[in-house]
Amino acid sequence: MSRSPILLDTKPVSYVIGEGALALSEKRLKKYNRIIILVDENTEKHCLPVFRDHLPEIEIDHVIVVKSGEKQKNLDQAIYIWNKLTDLKIARDALFINLGGGVITDIGGFAASTYKRGISFINYPTTLLGMADAAIGGKTGVDFEGYKNQVGLFAHPLSVVIDPVFLNTLEDIQWQSGFAEVMKYGLIMDRELWYMLAGKNYRAIAEWNNIISRAARDKIDIVQYDALEKGIRKNLNFGHTIGHAIESHYLNYDHPVTHGQAVAAGMICETWLSSKIFEMDCTRSQEIVSMIDLNFGKFDLTEAMIPELTDLMKQDKKVREGKLKFSLIRKLGKATHDVEVDFDLIVDSLKYYINRHAAH
Ligand SMILES: NC(=O)c1ccc[n+]([C@@H]2O[C@H](COP(=O)([O-])OP(=O)(O)OC[C@H]3O[C@@H](n4cnc5c(N)ncnc54)[C@H](O)[C@@H]3O)[C@@H](O)[C@H]2O)c1
Repeated sequence: MSRSPILLDTKPVSYVIGEGALALSEKRLKKYNRIIILVDENTEKHCLPVFRDHLPEIEIDHVIVVKSGEKQKNLDQAIYIWNKLTDLKIARDALFINLGGGVITDIGGFAASTYKRGISFINYPTTLLGMADAAIGGKTGVDFEGYKNQVGLFAHPLSVVIDPVFLNTLEDIQWQSGFAEVMKYGLIMDRELWYMLAGKNYRAIAEWNNIISRAARDKIDIVQYDALEKGIRKNLNFGHTIGHAIESHYLNYDHPVTHGQAVAAGMICETWLSSKIFEMDCTRSQEIVSMIDLNFGKFDLTEAMIPELTDLMKQDKKVREGKLKFSLIRKLGKATHDVEVDFDLIVDSLKYYINRHAAH
């Protein structure tokens, strides 16, 4: 990332990316009389002071605090936010700010865009995962009845302000989580990014600024082209069809894993599927799996979990006539979507994951 932030004034969202982005967002914020900020207890502690320090002239009307964690990405929390907005008599000309990771931008974007048929909101992502992925692209929503992102809508923020200053307090496990999505861009569309990362553990990476900027711009490019996920945007789901089932499974057993851990396991299974379906070079698929292993290690899946994982996948929005549509990689840096895979092969990919690790 260059020293001065990058400004991308795309329609309908403007992006400010890089060191100094936070301060640069002041002009836009000054247009609003009432500003509400949504945080969780961690971003209230670590990120709100940074926000206030960099934007001392911005008056915040009210701070809404919700509990952190995926378990909280639910309708009850959305109702809690709607209640607060109603009690505060927030009108449609107010501005809603999401200051947090993907859980906050997903649920805050959902609450803001449904309250009074929608008030404007701006995302200030504070995790690596949020900066590289979740805050961009207008997907908002909550988990419902044990299924990830079951209820939600596409609603674009006015702006996304990506300033790495927030990352100073991020825990190691959250860096790891975000790294799964960063690797994904390398695999599906950005071979050069993959080569920047290849062979490295996320803890050894020094050039985060460049990497975040690159990943964010990859996502912006895709969502600009296909905002409603009719085509190429589906490529971003690589690793997520199986990954979401794993994430939901653990969440349902009150043993949450990070989004990135689940997606990393999903990417290994889906790399295996890619190699079976597209006959991807075996050395290449091994290289991908090793890189994911280097960063995520062993993940505790067992064969006993497979029926529940496949049941969860059957609820996926992409199931048609007993087959599930996947986004897979044809070769490094090139993904394709709507690849129909039958459930037997999906089960085999999970067995591959489990037995491969059992051999360690
Ligand atoms: N909408 C999308 O397009 C999209 C894309 C990918 C992922 N997601 C969603 O994003 C969510 C995961 O996002 P996440 O990993 O950012 O999770 P998160 O929001 O739960 O944040 C992870 C943890 O880090 C804490 N935290 C956040 N910023 C911090 C900081 N700067 N310093 C210290 N602690 C901080 C949070 O309080 C939380 O405990 C999932 O719900 C996933 O489904 C959405």
